[in-house]
Amino acid sequence: MANPLYGRNVVSIKDFKKSELEYLFEQVDANFDASNRNDLHHNILGLLFFEPSTRTRLSFESAITSLGGNSISLAETNLSSIEKGENLTDTIKTLEQYVNAIVIRHSMEGSAKFAAEISNVPIINAGSGTEEHPTQAMLDLYTIKKEKDTLDNLEIGILGDLKYSRTVYSLIYALSHYSSKIHLISPPSLSIRNDLLVELKDKISIHEYDNVEEVIDELDILYVTRIQKERFPDMQEYQNVQGSYKVDSKLLEQSKDNLILMHPFPRTGEIASELDSTDKAKYFNQIKYGKLLRAELLRLVLTE
Ligand code: NCD
Repeated sequence: MANPLYGRNVVSIKDFKKSELEYLFEQVDANFDASNRNDLHHNILGLLFFEPSTRTRLSFESAITSLGGNSISLAETNLSSIEKGENLTDTIKTLEQYVNAIVIRHSMEGSAKFAAEISNVPIINAGSGTEEHPTQAMLDLYTIKKEKDTLDNLEIGILGDLKYSRTVYSLIYALSHYSSKIHLISPPSLSIRNDLLVELKDKISIHEYDNVEEVIDELDILYVTRIQKERFPDMQEYQNVQGSYKVDSKLLEQSKDNLILMHPFPRTGEIASELDSTDKAKYFNQIKYGKLLRAELLRLVLTE
């Protein structure tokens, strides 16, 4: 199969067919243990982060370096001309003169799409407001496949802030290519936005709950997200839900033995650290796979 990802923008997970995602996963598997690679020698990745990041930024840096390339980054935008009022267009048109692809994270919905429209180099969305985080969904799917051997016929619980978590939107759209069942669990005020339910109602089975106890015994996977405090327009709304759910060993007494726990991180108390050393905790594997997947994605976008 010719590489279907060459030259592509990665703006929305909705732009990727199931066959393209599976091609990517096969490439990650094929190069899982590869070392001393030089596939992206002389390539430079531009990192443009208008919001905080640990894993996404560092994994992209590590990924391009592992393939013999380099990165330059504008992470502290208060130290750049953006602070002087430079607009996003001029920032992108400048960065594209220096790099082969741009990874962008921005607080506004539509930011990555806008960047892709004006950029001459591929744009990779590393988080656009509450809207999407497509590379996180790719690595989340890869993690499920790696840990469970399949993406079909699973009972997948997604717990937490489903209203503002962009990882959740990209994840559910990606999972809609498969036959697993989705169980959405959140405080009522943080339930999933209706547009997703309307768009996916005929594609994937989705059930909603207020409490994880109602469904924990059915799940093969529990994907947990933090409450996105910074996205609440009203702090009272945040205080009403703060600390309202927690996954700990007591809760998991009711779960299947082979349940796996995932989290995009950062976590802020919603998964007890007592679980880190258990077989159920897969979030550190997820972080490792994230780097491997992003390396393969960069290679496929940048080389024919
Ligand atoms: C997520 C994000 O930025 O949306 N972080 C990440 O990239 N792993 C999740 C979050 O901030 O809660």
